Amino acid sequence: MTCPYPLDMPSLDTPSPVPAAENQGLPDGLPDFGSSSYKSAYSRINAIVIEGEQEAHDNYIALGTLLPNEAEELGRLARMELKHKKGFTACGANLGVEADMPFARDFFAPLRNNFQKALSEGKVVTCLLIQAILIEAFAISAYHIYIPVADPFARKITEGVVKDEYLHLNYGQEWLKANLDTIREEFEQANRDNLPLVRRMLDQVAGDAAVLQMEKEDLMADFLTSYQEALTEIGFTPREIARMAASALVG
Ligand SMILES: [Fe+2]
Ligand SMILES: [Fe+2]
Repeated sequence: MTCPYPLDMPSLDTPSPVPAAENQGLPDGLPDFGSSSYKSAYSRINAIVIEGEQEAHDNYIALGTLLPNEAEELGRLARMELKHKKGFTACGANLGVEADMPFARDFFAPLRNNFQKALSEGKVVTCLLIQAILIEAFAISAYHIYIPVADPFARKITEGVVKDEYLHLNYGQEWLKANLDTIREEFEQANRDNLPLVRRMLDQVAGDAAVLQMEKEDLMADFLTSYQEALTEIGFTPREIARMAASALVG
């Protein structure tokens, strides 16, 4: 499928590029996918998504070393993440955007470092919280908010991806639920250490997201919905969930 918008072609009534008219959006309310401001923001957002999918792959493979009995299933999830990465790489290429990968690697560094530390200490609960709850809920919220304002090519790809991310969130949820009696202390500490990082990541990306017509409040609200639903499903009480969500404010 090709993008139906004439991305780099001047239209008949605007004979030459008119920078002042950029990013005012298309008549149907969608952003102007060909504007330089859109492409600049997309180079970072697209990179974050590509890097996030690669790291998700690596994290599920790593989790398989901590949970050898689950390695096959985790390998299946990891393969889905690589497929997502391919899809989002194609979205950038479709818009003629080169993803800013160094930016994205820095963006993920704090969460990646915490995951790697937990992995080296054999902390399955912390690793699952970071990847299967926080990162998956973050991805789901970002993809939800992106879909209505995405270009048609990216929209189709993102709709397919978001269904898979629910499976991944569900995987983490089910494992944690089955082990609820023994995970509470580690889970709450890991949440305290990592939820503030997610909030900072959201702050860091808010400006670029706004250029894509994705509003920070919508992203935060959608994230908190998925996050709190996951915690409810795992079996935490409303009071425990409120206390854990409050970590986003104090961290
Ligand atoms: Fe993914
Ligand atoms: Fe995922």
